[in-house]
Amino acid sequence: MFKGSSRWIVWAVLMAMAMTVLCSCNTAKQWVGGKEAKGAMDIDVTAFGKTPSGQQVRLYTLANVNGMTAEIINYGAIVVSLSAPDRDGSMGDIVLGYDNLQDYIKETPYFGAIVGRYGNRIGKGRFTLDGKQYTLATNNDENHLHGGIKGFDKVVWDDEPLWRPDGVGVKLSYLSKDGEEGYPGNLKVTVIYVLTNKNELRIEYEATTDKATPVNITHHGYFNLTGCRRDILDHELTLKADRFTPVDAGLIPTGHLASVEGTPMDFRKSTAIGARIESDYEQLKFGGGYDHNWVLGKRPRAMTTAARVYEPTTGRVMEVLTTEPAVQFYAGNFLDGTLTGKQGVVYQHRYGFCLETQHYPDSPNKPNFPSTILRPGGKYETTTIYRFSAK
Ligand code: GLA
Repeated sequence: MFKGSSRWIVWAVLMAMAMTVLCSCNTAKQWVGGKEAKGAMDIDVTAFGKTPSGQQVRLYTLANVNGMTAEIINYGAIVVSLSAPDRDGSMGDIVLGYDNLQDYIKETPYFGAIVGRYGNRIGKGRFTLDGKQYTLATNNDENHLHGGIKGFDKVVWDDEPLWRPDGVGVKLSYLSKDGEEGYPGNLKVTVIYVLTNKNELRIEYEATTDKATPVNITHHGYFNLTGCRRDILDHELTLKADRFTPVDAGLIPTGHLASVEGTPMDFRKSTAIGARIESDYEQLKFGGGYDHNWVLGKRPRAMTTAARVYEPTTGRVMEVLTTEPAVQFYAGNFLDGTLTGKQGVVYQHRYGFCLETQHYPDSPNKPNFPSTILRPGGKYETTTIYRFSAK
């Protein structure tokens, strides 16, 4: 089938892929004196069980030169674990999740997953586009949440390892078919995770469509910088946002942008998440705490620092940089101790927080919000970086 030099190119590519999969040297898993040894960049691929319909799920273990690791599966494009150094250089797993595929399939509040086609809510699961009304699957009372009943977090993605000069990663691709969960158009989606040598988890999203459709894809990682040892209320948060989108009791934006000034929504100066979460500010009643969208005052598509989180006991710092116009800050209010995660840790109330970079919720029904409509010929392209350090 392949002739002359092209046969050699194919052979070389196949060998490189085989080497990647088979010859990983597992440097990330060598521990020296309680600290992870530094080593070479590495990608290790192992089986992570099968879905009930028999689809094989793979676990990618990415390691950077500093000994940080990220474990990612191609079911739901889920980040299963992410290790980051504390101020003494000790690694700790700083995301919530499960040890096995069955638990992810059984019940998950989107732990570590990619959510879409439209992350966050669309009111009453309806919108009108180019004069036509569309009805989406409703899975959050009368509303559509995180892509519907079977969103991007519950499908098996195509996967391939990815080597970059500054890091290692996995490229995940999924075709969301015309009509899936009620959305128009065949949407080709690519999500690339790269663990860089600057201790960043970099996420690049791309999508194209053959019919106009709303698109708002995000990462639903639950972070706990203590290494999941206690709740997240003492984490100190900075959000670079002057305004947020107030919501109604169903967490659907009213359409207004409100100033954070003088409210518990003001995180322009670093403040403990728990400092005001129980105050009787009406907006906090609706989500049982923080579960709102903060508007990043920035130029469209420019990459800026949206948030910074500092955990005082370990010194871990997480910065969130994004090209997106907003970030949903969710304080894990719906966690209630009924889910047991990795290594038997019970996820109590507010045991993890999410910083989901995205467009505003319910944008398809809010003409004054920045548009989330992708059209044929156009390209959806966003990037978000979670950067880790310690002080
Ligand atoms: C998002 C939503 C929350 C909740 C969580 C998952 O952050 O805004 O209301 O649905 O996902 O439980």
